[in-house]
Amino acid sequence: MKLYVIGNPIKHSMSPQIHNMWLKFHKINAHYDVLEIKESNLPELVEKMRKDELIGFNITLPYKTVILKYIDQLDESANISGSVNTVYKYKNRIFGGNTDGIGFVKTLEKDLPRRLKIKNFFIIGSGGASRGIVFSLCKKNIGKILLTNRSVQNARLLIEDVKKKIGFNKIYLHSWENKYIPEEFNMVVNTTSVGLKKGEDIDINFDNLRKTSIIYDIIYNPLETEFLKKANSKHLNTFNGISMLVRQAAVSFKLWFGVEINEKLLNLTKQKLIKLLNE
Ligand code: ATR
Repeated sequence: MKLYVIGNPIKHSMSPQIHNMWLKFHKINAHYDVLEIKESNLPELVEKMRKDELIGFNITLPYKTVILKYIDQLDESANISGSVNTVYKYKNRIFGGNTDGIGFVKTLEKDLPRRLKIKNFFIIGSGGASRGIVFSLCKKNIGKILLTNRSVQNARLLIEDVKKKIGFNKIYLHSWENKYIPEEFNMVVNTTSVGLKKGEDIDINFDNLRKTSIIYDIIYNPLETEFLKKANSKHLNTFNGISMLVRQAAVSFKLWFGVEINEKLLNLTKQKLIKLLNE
């Protein structure tokens, strides 16, 4: 049996290494591959799932939203965030889910130091990944969120959606031109794609932040983006996207197989990925 991660381009994906390791560990007779496809191939993939020739698939750019019209139903995570990263079958229906948000929140709960007491979030970006993260955060017991995005319209839309759909009102807009992060925001998260390419950086200033602040980049390749480099030079606490990558994959794995990946295997997976990325 097969699983895929689809996108275009897709060759850089680390998902096959993760899922094939877990399939082997759990002795599940299936294989996970990358598949570079055109949009016109999406219906045949969904058809294969109906015929049980395919277990499911992950989706990256540019298909996270176009997939909506080919599947039967969105689960709550995809519905709320408006983007799908996991397609799975449940009770003979083809579902789209989004595991980014829950992957991020699990990282917060399990991988970041508790002593730092994260409360207020400064979020950079308003795309699909940001939506997943923001909606999941708002359901937790947090303080406030300050959101900034290159296109102000996308940020406004996300803020309105959060207020309307889940009634969380402590979310505010921060102008893209204002490079200073206010002191009370003790966790800063880059959800944009800026930093994926070598040398790319976000023009933001960390000077107002306390030394106990956390700077998080959801990018994992490179392991240290310019954004994190700058934060490290200010002696702030930095984390890259490896934990979130592995934790969102674990949520997808559970949707496909009903199997929980334990903490020991999650940690082993992270170590393996870091080793691969350092090669
Ligand atoms: P993903 O699903 O990975 O979140 P996406 O939905 O395309 O991808 O969102 C990309 C995010 O990165 C958006 O917030 C985007 O800002 P815009 O809404 O202004 O497009 C942000 N982004 C991408 N390239 C950027 C750049 N060069 N400078 C600033 N922000 C950028």
